[in-house]
Amino acid sequence: MTKTPYSTETPQQKCGVIHVFMKHNMDDKEVADDKLIEAVSLCEAIKLDCIYSDTIPLDKVTPATLIGSGNVEHIAQIIEDNEIDLIVVNHTLSPIQQRNLEKELKAKVIDRTGLILEIFGERASTKEGTLQVELAALSYQRSRLVRSWTHLERQRGGFGFTGGPGESQIEIDRRLIDERITKIKKDLEKVVQTREQNRKKRKNTPFPIVALVGYTNAGKSTLFNLLTGANVFAKDLLFATLDPTMRKIELPNTNDEIILSDTVGFISDLPTQLVAAFRATLEEVLEADIILHVRDISDPACDQHKKDVLKILDDIGVDLDEANIVELLNKSDLLSKEDFIEWQRYARFELSNPAFLVSALKEDGINLVLEEIEHILNIDKRPYTVKIDIKDGHMISWLKANTQIEDEQFIAEQEKYELKLIANKTSIKRFEKEFGREISK
Ligand code: GTP
Repeated sequence: MTKTPYSTETPQQKCGVIHVFMKHNMDDKEVADDKLIEAVSLCEAIKLDCIYSDTIPLDKVTPATLIGSGNVEHIAQIIEDNEIDLIVVNHTLSPIQQRNLEKELKAKVIDRTGLILEIFGERASTKEGTLQVELAALSYQRSRLVRSWTHLERQRGGFGFTGGPGESQIEIDRRLIDERITKIKKDLEKVVQTREQNRKKRKNTPFPIVALVGYTNAGKSTLFNLLTGANVFAKDLLFATLDPTMRKIELPNTNDEIILSDTVGFISDLPTQLVAAFRATLEEVLEADIILHVRDISDPACDQHKKDVLKILDDIGVDLDEANIVELLNKSDLLSKEDFIEWQRYARFELSNPAFLVSALKEDGINLVLEEIEHILNIDKRPYTVKIDIKDGHMISWLKANTQIEDEQFIAEQEKYELKLIANKTSIKRFEKEFGREISK
């Protein structure tokens, strides 16, 4: 059996994490501390045993090693004393810096991109997610052929940056990588086609889509489980989901049915190699009628995380002014009484979107969220009369599936169907976008 670095028989790898920042910017020390904490959580997400972490202020960047010889010596000593196997540098390293550091530290070294690729590799669960991440990892690794190479013979998850037994014996071969890249691209094309077909099918389902988005670890999966009763993987691990999961639920008062979709956790400074993989998993959000933005308000960096999330939504094409975004201010159970009251005031008076204090863990505040969803879905429902040519049967089927038909008549002399229907603005917009045809009131 092929061992992965994470299999239970393999002892946990001991790792150290460093985050560098420029000394002349001592104001950034606090930010650096937060980033270090995040990087340590990322390491724990792939079950590394993080026994050393530090922020390193730099006077200047040293081209050969980034951190300079004094720091290298200091860290080498810590590595030796603590038998550390792996150092994560929470920064981008050039292939040469990485190689030099490995030589001088006598330990494996990975940078932030390598770490995130590793995590995404572990978490990807659908075929497309796995392929996209593998493609990203291959492109990254191709540029650093000095790295050892294990994953082609591994069975699942991860991409071997953190190393496994015996990997150094495996020969690295650029041609092998190129062949694999070509094969993955072909496979991806097939998967994308299938996804397109599924998407088309889904478009014809009459249920509005409500998408959960949020910074990694905000509590999306916990909320998804609570709302759907499903047992989606929720742990105190970052990136517990890499692919959207969709479930149908019924709303309590109106009995409207909606599709709830859980998405991958967002992260700032996403490595460019991963942007495509990440976007592929987010396409569902573009079609969502309502976006539930889950925020961990117990996290001091939550305002920055909100900005990061909105930027990514904007990047993938969500119209932030038009979209129905509801903020779920989660983990409210962790707030002090004073902070709770302050957040409530803030939610009510200062945020531009509807916002609710919730605790997915304690199941607090969820009913109000469901009522808000019902409210949004029904608020702008109104009657429309639409005439459609008989040759455009697909439009008629769409309207029948996605709106409430009150009456339909065939007008023989015009060769048209006249539909009297009730729909909300979002459905009408979806129709107009899908068929390039306007519906007047
Ligand atoms: P990714 O998949 O990484 O994007 O994470 P996620 O947003 O799906 O977060 P997840 O639901 O996995 O929750 C992350 C951690 O936060 C878990 O340990 C949850 O138990 C915890 N958590 C979620 N909601 C709450 C809450 O309301 N209160 C508290 N105290 N913890 C919560």
